[in-house]
This record gives sequence, structure tokens and C-alpha cells, in this order.
Amino acid sequence: MCGIVGYVGNKDAKEILLKGLEKLEYRGYDSAGIAVVDQDGVQVFKEKGRIAVLREIVDQNVESTMGIGHTRWATHGAPSKVNSHPHQSSAERFTLVHNGVIENYGKVKREYLQDVTFVSDTDTEVVVQLIEKFVNEGESVEEAFRHALSVIKGSYAIALVDNQDPETIYVGKNKSPLLVGVGEGFNVVASDAMAMISQTDKYVELMDEEIVIVTRDSYTIKTLDGQEVSREPYTAELDASDIEKGTYPHYMLKEIDEQPFVMRNIIKHYQNEDGNLKLDDDIREAMKETDRIYIVACGTSYNAGLVGKQLIENIAKVPVEVHIASEFVYNMPLLSEKPLFIFISQSGETADSRAVLVAIKKLGHKALTITNVPGSTLSREANYTLNLYAGPEIAVASTKAYTAQIAVLAILAVDAARAQGIELDFNPLQELAIVANAIESLTDQKETMERVAQEYLSETRNAFFIGRAVDYFVCLEGSLKLKEISYIQAEGFAGGELKHGTIALIEDGTPVIALSTQEHVDLSIRGNVKEVAARGANTCVISTEVTKDEGDRIVLPEVHEYLTPLVSVVPLQLIAYYAALHRDCDVDKPRNLAKSVTVE
Ligand code: F6R
Repeated sequence: MCGIVGYVGNKDAKEILLKGLEKLEYRGYDSAGIAVVDQDGVQVFKEKGRIAVLREIVDQNVESTMGIGHTRWATHGAPSKVNSHPHQSSAERFTLVHNGVIENYGKVKREYLQDVTFVSDTDTEVVVQLIEKFVNEGESVEEAFRHALSVIKGSYAIALVDNQDPETIYVGKNKSPLLVGVGEGFNVVASDAMAMISQTDKYVELMDEEIVIVTRDSYTIKTLDGQEVSREPYTAELDASDIEKGTYPHYMLKEIDEQPFVMRNIIKHYQNEDGNLKLDDDIREAMKETDRIYIVACGTSYNAGLVGKQLIENIAKVPVEVHIASEFVYNMPLLSEKPLFIFISQSGETADSRAVLVAIKKLGHKALTITNVPGSTLSREANYTLNLYAGPEIAVASTKAYTAQIAVLAILAVDAARAQGIELDFNPLQELAIVANAIESLTDQKETMERVAQEYLSETRNAFFIGRAVDYFVCLEGSLKLKEISYIQAEGFAGGELKHGTIALIEDGTPVIALSTQEHVDLSIRGNVKEVAARGANTCVISTEVTKDEGDRIVLPEVHEYLTPLVSVVPLQLIAYYAALHRDCDVDKPRNLAKSVTVE
């Protein structure tokens, strides 16, 4: 939710900022802006819409070697030019960009800023006004910055410039992600290393309630009370080519196609020299110790958690509950004696999940994060981390992270089973290699998926995905993919539950896509297909070699039954992709969404 960048060095800042923002557009794309500072002061360019719109209005004649930028996902105040960042103080001395939510902005306005006329509806503007007020009262810029950050409550990643100082960017962080990138004769600031990886691969992590004073030759980290902190940069293992689309029309299609590679990457990272499964001893011990696992996640990661529950319960025989992060605090279950929390998060930054992590840590419980972003907040703050090794996922709709999450959960389940001495005839590394080939054979059948999308989904306003057992969980994911990128009202249902109400929605031509990958439920789900067909539904069955029947539209290649979700989801991802494409939707950047949801 919102991305920020900054650059101070000796090159043209505006181009570096614009390119950085383009890489962060997945974090929000309602509006965008940059501010550049030179000896004559600050110039701000901002506009409602995408970075491409901003690019058009940036004056190419302006030359400056330092500046800040922002791409917005609106929280407080509608998407508009006036609400877009950067925001300026009344005297226009200070200019600032912010990612996060200032929870006490109303109180701050009343207590400190009654005399100020605000121009925007944002929570952010209070911060820049507060800094100017404190400077006017005699504080140095650094003091005023730290003072303002200790007054505000909530989440923030902030970059501030002073029009009287074209040499310094002040940054601050609490809960929202922010990195300082270190270069030779320049330094950068970014919400995500991806944004600035073409400039540098050396990054310094920031902790909550820290500020950094960034110049072209130095970065000085301090706590809010002014204590200096020393921290060395780490090397970000990102390949600049990972974040390019290459010849693909969309990141989503590229990422769907990358899934076989991701499976092979996971196999590589989770095996030792002898080809056996390897996981940290600490994680094995935690899995062995626990009497109940609580999986906490949102959206697609939650859907992966549902599959993970089945894997862990069937393989490792440990009971598992799966919870939506944003509901957990209201419906906190009675915890077992030795709970272990597993947070599943592609980005590792999701605020809803992090709020639960903070809460359970206060209660003294242990947490494992499964994430695609090593060093992300959820990874840093949990006791243990398992990486997904899926490579950057840029399309807003998650695809390869979902399959990677399930693969890693299967590995975790097997390791936990072995630690308890449970005999298994399931070797996840071998089976994932088979899955990789199976996914490849499905991604080679794009014309079939496109035809299904066109035939079933090009005209419709709604669609249903039905399945039983683990297929039901995959249907939830298939329907989420379809609705978020094509805006078709799509729902995933347990086949047996239809007759308890939802079947009333079936009309002539309503598309119903049924998954049948499990022999033990095949007859039942086919019964449900007949029920909806009898009421006019346009039905499409996806089956496997063991369940196939005449008329099935897609037959999935055979994989181990524990791992069928890894292949059955692939046609659903592709069908959603083509449905969105044929409806002229913006596949990679669906409306109202952002990739990394850093507000609760
Ligand atoms: C849907 C999607 C979202 C995310 C959710 C959690 O395609 O991507 O539902 O899965 O916002 O995000 P992470 O996994 O980063 O915590």
C-alpha cells in the first residue's frame, strides 16, 4: 500500500525516481508524485493516475540530483491530485511522502495545528505541518522530524526534504517497510529493494521508530530520542532481470509460467548434498514440541493455509486451525497449551497478519513465517522463517507464491512427521519434481484455457467454482483469482453446500466450473454438477486421469494426491487470466487493489 523512493547523489534524480516508482506501482496506483530539490528550492509534480500519467507532467528541463517520490493506494482521502503525495507544509519549506496510516491525525490537528489551513483530506499532511511548526518554534530539522514522529501514532515510512537543503533526505519508519540503499557517491531510499536494484544491491534495514539522515556520502541511523545506531548493509539477492516482464504481455502470465521453475527451486533449496530433505533443527523442534498449529494469513495466502492444514494434519498428525488474520483478534480461539503460529505471507509485510504476530508474541508464543521476502517484517519478527524461493511476484494477483506456499507446507509437514518417527511413503522432493513437469504440461495448453475462458466467462456477470474436500479449497482460490482481475462476481463453494441456499442463484447459462481431482468425492461432485446443469448452468468439469469422464473439459496430469492443488489451480489461474484479458481488464493492476497490504 503506497510505495516510496528517494535518491541523493549526482545523477538526474527525476528519472531514477520515476523508474523506481514504476517498480513499486504494484503497491498502489491511484496517484503518484515526485519532488526534486536544487539550489533554487523544491519542485513538486503530482497527478491522479498511474506513473505513466506522472511521467507526462514532469518537466524534463528540471535538473536536480536529489528528490523523493510516491505511488499511492488511497486510505484517507479519495484518489485525486490534491490528495496525492508529496505533501507540503504551508510555507512550502518541507515536502514529504508517506506510506502508512497516521491513526491520531485528528487529535494532532486539534492539539497542535489549529491555526493551519489544510489543503488535502489526507492523514499525512499533519506530519509535514507538524515538522514545519516545530522548526518555526526553534528546533533543528532533525529535532523537529524526530519530535513529529514521536507525536504521531500509527504506521509510517516517510521521506522528507527541506527546500533549504538540497543535500539531505530524512527518513523514518514504523511498521511500514523502508530500506536505505547504499551506493558509491549516492544513496537511495525505497519501500522495497526491487525499486532501486538497478542502482545498488546493498541495503540497510530499518527498525521501527528509527530515523535515518541520508546524504550522498552517508547514512546516519538514530532512534527517535536521538541515539545513534550502527548497522551494516546486506546484499539483496535480487536479479534485475527477475523483475522485468521480458517478452510476456503481463507479469501474471510470466509468473504462472514460472511455477515449474519455482517448484524446482524449492527442491534445490530444501535438500542437502545427499538429496535428502533439510530444514532448520529449530523449526523441526518447534513442530515436534507443539500440540496445535494456528495458521494465520490473508487472501490467497489464507487459501494456501487451508491446503496446508490438510497436509500437516494428514502427514504430521498435528491438529491445525486456519485463521483469517484480520478476524483473529475478534475471534481469538482458546489456545492450546503449546501453540505454534504459522504466518503465511508472500510479501511478509501484510499489516493484518503482523498485528496478530505482535499480539501473540506479547502472549509469549512462538511463530514461523513462510514468506517470499527474506528480511521482510513478518520474517524478521517471527522466531523462524521458511523462504518460498519463488522470485519477485509483481502481478497483484498472486499465483506462483500460492503454489510455492503449498509446496513449502508439504515439506514442513513431512519434516515434522519424520521428526516424530512417522513412517511415510511420500517423498516431497521427488513428488514436487513430478508436479513441476505436470504444471509445465498445463501451461503448454494455454489455447484450451483461453477457449474455456471465452466460452464460459466472456459475457457473464457471475460464476461459481465447486469442489469437495481439498478441491473446495482450490475453488476458493480460483474464484478469488477470477473476481479480483476480471471483476466477475465469482464464488467458490463446497459442492454439498450448494443445495443449502446458493443453488438459488443458478440460472440459465450461469457458469459453474467443477473440480474433481479426488476419487473418493468424484461421484458426489458429479452429482452436484448434474444438479446445477438441470437448472440451466453452463458446466465445465476439470478432472484428473483417475477421475476423468466423457465431456470433461480439462484433464490434469497425475501427481501425488497430496499435491493435486498444485496442478488443479493452474487452469483456474489461466482461465482467470484470459477472462480478464478478454474483458479488457488491467490484468496486472486490477482496480482498487495493491500488492502489499500494509494497512489494517
Ligand atoms: C490475491 C492476493 C491477496 C494476497 C493477500 C495477502 O491474489 O494476492 O489476496 O494473498 O493480500 O498478501 P500476503 O501474502 O503478501 O500476506
